[in-house]
Amino acid sequence: MANGAQSEDKTLQSICYKRGSLQLLDQRKLPLETIYLDIKNAQDGWDAIKEMVVRGAPAIAIAAALSLAVEVSKLETFNGTAQDAVSFISQKLEYLVSSRPTAVNLSDATTKLNEVIKKAASTASEAKTVFEAYIEAAEIMLKDDVTCNKAIGSYGASLLQNQLPDSSRKISILTHCNTGSLATAGYGTALGVIRAVHTSGVLERAYCTETRPFNQGSRLTAFELVSENIPATLIADSAAAALMKAGRVNAVIVGADRVAANGDTANKIGTYSLAVCAMHHNIPFYVAAPLTSVDLSLPSGEQIVIEERSAKELLNTRGGLGEQIAASGISVWNPAFDVTPASLISGIITEKGVIKKDDGSDAFDIAGFVHKASGDARDTILH
Ligand code: MRU
Repeated sequence: MANGAQSEDKTLQSICYKRGSLQLLDQRKLPLETIYLDIKNAQDGWDAIKEMVVRGAPAIAIAAALSLAVEVSKLETFNGTAQDAVSFISQKLEYLVSSRPTAVNLSDATTKLNEVIKKAASTASEAKTVFEAYIEAAEIMLKDDVTCNKAIGSYGASLLQNQLPDSSRKISILTHCNTGSLATAGYGTALGVIRAVHTSGVLERAYCTETRPFNQGSRLTAFELVSENIPATLIADSAAAALMKAGRVNAVIVGADRVAANGDTANKIGTYSLAVCAMHHNIPFYVAAPLTSVDLSLPSGEQIVIEERSAKELLNTRGGLGEQIAASGISVWNPAFDVTPASLISGIITEKGVIKKDDGSDAFDIAGFVHKASGDARDTILH
């Protein structure tokens, strides 16, 4: 695969897909090497997700769906009916969901894909029809994610611009982990908002944390910011409070792996401490995420399953890929995510607008927002 595959908007693409072929940018090698791995089936997709070749909630969901689309497109002979095709796909999807538990986008995608194939099987007897319906639906997910991220960027940029005390001032934004082109099908969520603020000419500076232990901030976000000439500064995770105290941050924007019905949000470990610091310094703290990151089945963040990753990520450099740096024999606790309570979140920027708290309330009405947004979408289709 050619180095540095770029999307139309010139950002680096983590997912390169055309029907029958999928390559994933090996994000473990960035920023030093740009290597794409061929993904031929769901097993390759599962391995790539588990081993962090591809990461970031939306990218994981799309990569999983497309890995199975490639497998299905190569099935020259399938001995079975449309119902057999549904069982085949459903089992593979269930397996793919088991790769990483915290991000809801992957299970949301599989629920939607299962609905598509069941619908196809209800009107067809041939397996081929079900496979085609699956491939088309997975391809639409890839396309829709970029559109959705651009909408998040635009809502986020307007929100922040409206908050500027006077029109001449620029703003500086702190972000965490990587939520850009590399974590999505393109453009990004929280980093997409930073891109949009920069494009509209009001970004003073983006600050990105290193995001230990896997360094998604220093390896990936810093790489995206530098590639696009966005004014940016890297800080150690532990420097965030001091940066806020120095008055150098106007807003914090992060992504999400799962937003519970009350607005509690799971995101990369360290997000919660940033929210606590932001509240202490009276700095707005925003989550930017597609509605596919919302999980209305969970009343609060307490029910979110937090993935714990290998001790090696802390014991060795480069998130476990390099040489040993910690004392042999030390025990390790390595949760990959934490949950930020809704009380610390100022607003949730989605592709349908910003979810805010009602005046005087400390709670979000996420279900109300989602239902209204899906009603509006239905109205648009009907008219
Ligand atoms: O472990 P990762 O790198 O998959 O974690 C990624 C994050 O926590 C992101 O902030 C989140 O998935 C949103 S990506 C648009």
